[in-house]
Amino acid sequence: MFMNGSHLFINEVQQLKSNLVIVADSSNYENQSQNNESYSLQWKMVDEMEQKKQFWAMQKHWYLDLYGFQNEENLKTFLQDKKVILDAGCGMGYKAAWFAELAPHATVIGMDFSESVYIASEYFQSQENLLFVRGDIADTGLKNNVIDYVSCDQVLQHTEVPENTLAEFNRILNPAGKLAVYVYRKKALPRELLDTHFREKTKELSYQEKLEFSAQLTELGRKLSDLQIELDFPDIPVLDIKGGKQDLQRFIYWNFIKCYWNPELGEEISNSTNFDWYSPSNAYRYSKPEFIEMLSNAGFKLEFLHEEEACYSGVANPVSSD
Ligand SMILES: C[S@@+](CC[C@H](N)C(=O)[O-])C[C@H]1O[C@@H](n2cnc3c(N)ncnc32)[C@H](O)[C@@H]1O
Repeated sequence: MFMNGSHLFINEVQQLKSNLVIVADSSNYENQSQNNESYSLQWKMVDEMEQKKQFWAMQKHWYLDLYGFQNEENLKTFLQDKKVILDAGCGMGYKAAWFAELAPHATVIGMDFSESVYIASEYFQSQENLLFVRGDIADTGLKNNVIDYVSCDQVLQHTEVPENTLAEFNRILNPAGKLAVYVYRKKALPRELLDTHFREKTKELSYQEKLEFSAQLTELGRKLSDLQIELDFPDIPVLDIKGGKQDLQRFIYWNFIKCYWNPELGEEISNSTNFDWYSPSNAYRYSKPEFIEMLSNAGFKLEFLHEEEACYSGVANPVSSD
């Protein structure tokens, strides 16, 4: 059977379909296993959503900002000389499919540790230059220096040891290759403490209870947002709380509790976003210096840095050690 891209792997991979192979389907780590299970459930939930395509479109648009491409044409130009592209932690595969469409000359690999690859490989089976792989992006099974572009969008913080994942990217990237990477940003102290506490707590909850919890957070966000109250809040530097004129829901959201509500995307996507935040056990957060240092320790130099209240993202080059 034809196996697109199989020559890139060190070991024999188990082939399920012409566009789907398995490198690993379980982890030895408890938190990573819980993450895989949580994302397997979450992607099934997203798959059933009416507004999934709208969510994908919004995500693609955001991607262009996160990595400084600004528009799709620039991304297409950037991908022109990339022969092998890895979408590391591809979820439902819509970004891997996007890269495959913009770079028809390239082989694109979408790798994820959850069951999402089964859904993705069904959706995008007509794209011949696209291969889905179930596996750990911290232990890809790929040969040294075979990848020209690693895109690791909204994933690194969910891997067991992000430093090890970056080291793996360095190993598989060609020395002239590029890494696009994103991490969660540390927020105000009350929010950080509550987030850590909730993540421990949600481990004990059933899937149904987590869904209910997520819906309650959406409801809280919606009610606060409906109030349309804008206040001039004080700064409280000791708690890293940033004041200034802002909407009450936003103030509570950034400083105390994630209660996501987006009226344009609606209730299902908002629920899923709240679920995505509290359900996975691994969800590390970083300050800007920590993000830059972690990249530098793994042998990467940032050539582009983007920051938002929720995240840091950037494009980095591997630097030679000699
Ligand atoms: C927030 S989602 C982002 C998905 C996709 N990059 C996107 O932007 O839509 C995080 C994804 O990372 C995957 N993931 C987490 N740890 C992983 C690992 N060690 N190896 C492969 N995938 C992993 C999860 O299964 C999940 O699909």
